[in-house]
Amino acid sequence: MRAMPDSPESRESSVGAVAPDAPDWTARVENPYLRGYHAPTVHETTAVDLAVEGEIPEDLYGAYVRNGPNSVYQPSNQYHWFDGDGMVHGVYFREGKATYRSRLVRTEFLGDETRSGAAMWPGIMGPFDFSAPRHYLKDTANTDLIYHNGAILALWYMCGDPYRLDPLTLDTIGIDDFGGKRTTTVSAHPKVDQRTGELVYFTLADEAPFMRYGVVSAEGELVHEIPVDLPGPRSPHDLTITENYSILHDFPFFHDVDVLRKHGYRVAKFYPDIPSRFGVVPRRGASDEVRWFDFEPGYVLHMVNAWEDGDWIVMDGCFQPDPTIRRRKEEGELASMLGYLRINAHLRRWRMNLRTGETSEQQLDDLNVEFCLPDTELYGQQTRYSYHQRLPIDPYTVEFHSLVKYDHSDASSVRHDYGPGMLGSESPYARRRGATEEDDGYVVTIVADAADLSSACWIYSARDIEKGPIAKVALPSRVPSGFHAKWIPGDRLWDAGAADKS
Ligand SMILES: [Fe+2]
Repeated sequence: MRAMPDSPESRESSVGAVAPDAPDWTARVENPYLRGYHAPTVHETTAVDLAVEGEIPEDLYGAYVRNGPNSVYQPSNQYHWFDGDGMVHGVYFREGKATYRSRLVRTEFLGDETRSGAAMWPGIMGPFDFSAPRHYLKDTANTDLIYHNGAILALWYMCGDPYRLDPLTLDTIGIDDFGGKRTTTVSAHPKVDQRTGELVYFTLADEAPFMRYGVVSAEGELVHEIPVDLPGPRSPHDLTITENYSILHDFPFFHDVDVLRKHGYRVAKFYPDIPSRFGVVPRRGASDEVRWFDFEPGYVLHMVNAWEDGDWIVMDGCFQPDPTIRRRKEEGELASMLGYLRINAHLRRWRMNLRTGETSEQQLDDLNVEFCLPDTELYGQQTRYSYHQRLPIDPYTVEFHSLVKYDHSDASSVRHDYGPGMLGSESPYARRRGATEEDDGYVVTIVADAADLSSACWIYSARDIEKGPIAKVALPSRVPSGFHAKWIPGDRLWDAGAADKS
């Protein structure tokens, strides 16, 4: 256990020791993200009819899928949590029973390393090797995932190739070229509008155009793409959609491209005198139709959702007023890596009037919350509820200590603390079969136990979060801490049109 004196809550932090199922090389490297529940695993598992404490609801129908980093080979430079190869964990629920499956995302980069038997790319802490094949950083596809056009797309936060995974086996099918029309990379966090089936995405570059924005049809074909004018290379992480518009991000927290090219380091710096900006563009709008609105400087990793209200666009998300990297001198050579992952964010609402140009923004709460999800079936439509992870202020490593449910009508919240030494995962909402109201369903997460490094899938009733899980499904192998999760409704997995895959 590592206790930091300036943050009482981080005394709950319990990173733990060497994990027996982690790759052997992790034991030789001193790095808290290679220990305990953060340690990578490379074991691919399949297990059926899992043991349950409590009862899996019969109307919980679909799959919880989560992406995350799992380095197979020892990196040549300092390891960072973001560097690991993507691995997707899936817990499938049908008729009151659960099945678990985990598979590495077989990226082309991992294929190269498997053939060479060693890491071939330095990680994000640099210095980068610009002579490395394919790209100076490894596209791990480890960050996000989204179901679209019959497959899961695994995506990378630094913008890479979207990898298609079979939604039932989690095997990698290959790279999606969007009907042969894709010419750029794709960032993590595209959104699917379930009313049209369209996938809306952005991508970033260090050379102009610094951002591109695009739309892929329900059938998987790229139907629209435009360059977006930005003042320089930027590092936004997310975008939102409404029924008719998309909202692009430009925050004053970005890297110096000269330092990147000269020294091989990508160092993000916060510029508190430059406003945050949101660019509103019609779903299939042109470059000159992007309209920018200025707001308080800061950074946002993840938005909850956005929607239209008359002439207004309303957008809720997790705002970091000061994204400065929180280094602690006493952490020595690990200080930058650890500081980079210390998130302090609160729920905020931004409003933009498309007729008058008027704006407003309002802090809705002061809890430190991130990894936020609404009912993702309702992206682009007004949602009342969202589900977040609560983090301690400036913890030693990233810690998800509680599941928080917000009611956006009055910014009230309820929460359930996972408990000492217990680490949660991003927690999507799973609509109950036959539900007609927004929160009539479940919230599903994976919780890791620092004490014995076991993992379980916890199921909450979405209307009674504070009562704790109604069922805990024992998982057969350890699920390391990870990034983004989604719920895939069962009708897309097993019903008409998908039945041949089951
Ligand atoms: Fe993210």
